[in-house]
Amino acid sequence: MNFELTEEQLAVKNAARDFAQNVLKQGVIERDRDQKFATEEIQQLGELGFMGMMVDPAYGGGGMDTISYAIAMEEISKVDASVSVCMSVNNSLVCYGIEKFGTEEQKQKYLVPLATGKKIGAFCLSEPEAGSDATSQRTTAIDKGDHYVLNGTKNWITNGSSASIYLVIAQTNPELGHKGINVLIVERGMEGFIVGAKEDKMGIRGSDTHTLLFNDVKVPKENRIGEDGFGFKFAMKTLAGGRIGIAAQALGIAAGAFELALAYSQERKAFGKEIFKHQAIAFKLADMATEIEAARLLVMKAAKEKDLGLNYDQSSAMAKLYASKVAMEQTVEAVQIHGGYGYVKEYHVERLMRDAKITQIYEGTSEVQKIVISRGLLDN
Ligand code: CAA
Repeated sequence: MNFELTEEQLAVKNAARDFAQNVLKQGVIERDRDQKFATEEIQQLGELGFMGMMVDPAYGGGGMDTISYAIAMEEISKVDASVSVCMSVNNSLVCYGIEKFGTEEQKQKYLVPLATGKKIGAFCLSEPEAGSDATSQRTTAIDKGDHYVLNGTKNWITNGSSASIYLVIAQTNPELGHKGINVLIVERGMEGFIVGAKEDKMGIRGSDTHTLLFNDVKVPKENRIGEDGFGFKFAMKTLAGGRIGIAAQALGIAAGAFELALAYSQERKAFGKEIFKHQAIAFKLADMATEIEAARLLVMKAAKEKDLGLNYDQSSAMAKLYASKVAMEQTVEAVQIHGGYGYVKEYHVERLMRDAKITQIYEGTSEVQKIVISRGLLDN
């Protein structure tokens, strides 16, 4: 097994790190405080090619592998997880879903602006009563011949107000259960589509999470992705890749907190020497480094399996389950190493600790990952 990055992967890492440390870091505390979406920074991210990294260059993408994407997600998430969740949803849910399953017309019309970062996408599955239990869709898409009529409410939608292209999962034929679900491409501005309230969140406060309302929205049939009834499978297949992105995000949050704690431990003195020279702190950092490296290997394995065309349902769920646990635990440790300074905003680690929690909740809770992993055990 080769653990070395290729020249191209290394260049992606350096570019993402440079952007995160030199551009994103500047305003991140204020964006978190004010719940401000990083509009200009995300536009720059698009110009640098980070919003459609894995998309075929023929559609304006970067044509890169999933490993490069995971590396970029890690570097961006070390600084700003609100920006990286926008990037993740755009890359691995919306761009991937349209490129893999969409028609040529859908790709030309929707994928090209998404992959070039000119437009932002959102993935609309969760509902007030359908989170983990994703087959219980109450939003309806009634077949009216040449179009669908969409009615319902979606909750917790990342990029809710900044997006202009939305993939909406809805029930067309309830008697068929999950086989009656469709996925439709909805455009901002379609009549009856309303962006509702914004959530006031614990973490990833710079990300715009909204409720969306659909009141008799007419969606042309050519905006359906895949065959009639493909919507649930579309969501599951797309989320498997999305979980690699969120696992890389969790890894980045943990690694970012670790980097800050390691640097702080060499500056801060207590009892006559740098705190790194106290075994209690050095051992804590050794444990953190080991946990983070283990999470990184799981993320890379899932990414590699996807690149090789293997089934990555189980490896992506494992990567997300483990990396999100590491993010939660190791950001708490990073705050502890900083002592009182860790509890104030200026030192960044308290934000990373708050941001870490969402990685155990979205794109499937940790319990959902365990469902996927345990079912996979029986397949082997
Ligand atoms: N690929 C292809 N098909 C799949 C699949 C996959 N990865 N996973 C499931 N399916 C298929 C099954 O084969 C089955 O089809 P058949 O009946 O034809 O065999 C069908 O889908 C139903 O599957 P299950 O019986 O496994 O469904 P379930 O109701 O037991 O649910 C679950 C399984 C894993 C819990 C699923 O509901 C799930 O993943 N829930 C979590 C949803 C989620 O992650 N939401 C996140 C929202 S998006 C988000 O957070 C983005 C953001 O903003 C950051």
